[in-house]
Amino acid sequence: MSPEKLSKLNDIYQKYIEVGMFDFPVDVSKEFIAEKFMGYGTNLNEKVFSLSEFKELVLRQRQQSAGIEMHVDRNQVFQKITNDENAGIIVEELIVTMIISGMEHKTQVRLTTFLEYVNVNWVVIHMHASVPVVAEANDIWNLDELNRKNKELQKLVDERTTELRTSLEELKAAQAQLVQSEKMASLGELTAGIAHEIQNPLNFVNNFSEVNTELVDELQSELKSGNTEEAISISNDIKENSEKINHHGNRAGDIVKGMLQHSRTSTGKKEPTNINSLADEYLRLSYHGLRAKDKSFIAEMKTDFDQTIGNINIIPQDIGRVLLNLYNNAFYAVTEKKEQQPKGYEPTVSVRTKKMGDKIEIRVKDNGIGIPQKVVDKIFQPFFTTKPTGVGTGLGLSLSYDIVKALGGEIKVETIEGEGSEFIILISAK
Ligand SMILES: Nc1ncnc2c1ncn2[C@@H]1O[C@H](COP(=O)(O)OP(=O)(O)OP(=O)(O)O)[C@@H](O)[C@H]1O
Ligand SMILES: [Mg+2]
Repeated sequence: MSPEKLSKLNDIYQKYIEVGMFDFPVDVSKEFIAEKFMGYGTNLNEKVFSLSEFKELVLRQRQQSAGIEMHVDRNQVFQKITNDENAGIIVEELIVTMIISGMEHKTQVRLTTFLEYVNVNWVVIHMHASVPVVAEANDIWNLDELNRKNKELQKLVDERTTELRTSLEELKAAQAQLVQSEKMASLGELTAGIAHEIQNPLNFVNNFSEVNTELVDELQSELKSGNTEEAISISNDIKENSEKINHHGNRAGDIVKGMLQHSRTSTGKKEPTNINSLADEYLRLSYHGLRAKDKSFIAEMKTDFDQTIGNINIIPQDIGRVLLNLYNNAFYAVTEKKEQQPKGYEPTVSVRTKKMGDKIEIRVKDNGIGIPQKVVDKIFQPFFTTKPTGVGTGLGLSLSYDIVKALGGEIKVETIEGEGSEFIILISAK
């Protein structure tokens, strides 16, 4: 073969490699790819039956590798020109290296190309590219390799499963610890609160009893001097002081009672409970309890019970206590609002139950004074109260919170200052 014809062959082959591997202009490929070109790419679907399909394949490849750093090492392993010098076969082994996200990926490609000399020009009429599968020499059908990969995959799956299981256990432990530390925190708050809260009534008790001791001395000396009127006046002061002592003593007593409820280990037993009857019963209990103290107090009670709930397994006294706290607060809030005498105001407290999947929602709503945004975060803290001394200890909601949490449930509030509040409890239906 003339050196010119051979160099033309190599030249065309080079252009064909460049269009396939690099960014040689695709349009020019019609000069060296036959119109009826046929080729196999390395992928299952890469079958090309014409020049235009060849171009499409090249463009798709370029799109996929856009922005990826890539280089190719080439090694020609075979070249043969047919005896009539009108056809040539070239075989190359290529190592394509791509850097993807900083990682080097190497692909080995075997490429066989068939060229034909037509009208004083070489054109590529066929190519066959393949990626050899890595396998042992005697694993002809690649089965050992498949098995090995399967085992590798299985190992990976096992590893991941173990990892997941461990993290799940760790999460559970962390959660348990959180619940524990939340309890500890509320215990700490409680202790600090107790000290502070009890100190106050105690100071009154101490001061008034000291004053009374002095007054008794005075009383005795007035009696000795025969000043009956003075003596009576002093004895009245003593009486007043002792009433104050009694009042503050009671307040300390209430605080202690509330605390005992907090630290109590529930004495009740879980039993199938009709939550609707319970909610109804405690609503009436709360209302009549308040009416006993203040006959003039009137409020409307509304109930809306989901009859599909049936019985749920709870300690009735616990949920009862929570509901009682909520109702008492609600009636208090409507009383407060009533005192502001808004026109046409009808104090209303309502309770609603609803089954929601495997949960039960209980909503206690009032149209009372509502809770200002700036204190709403504090209402579940022990001893937070806006009620006057002797009326509230501020333990109701913190106790309710503890009880609901212990059941694995949730309690939250939605409120608008001046318009009312709604407390929402969510507990398991099982
Ligand atoms: N329905 C409600 N409407 C308006 N304010 C509320 C309502 N429920 C609770 N609050 C506010 O949250 C505070 C804390 O309530 P919580 O039940 O814990 O204590 P308390 O009612 O003040 O006292 P205790 O319940 O111990 O007698 C209340 O003082 C009040 O300011
Ligand atoms: Mg309360």
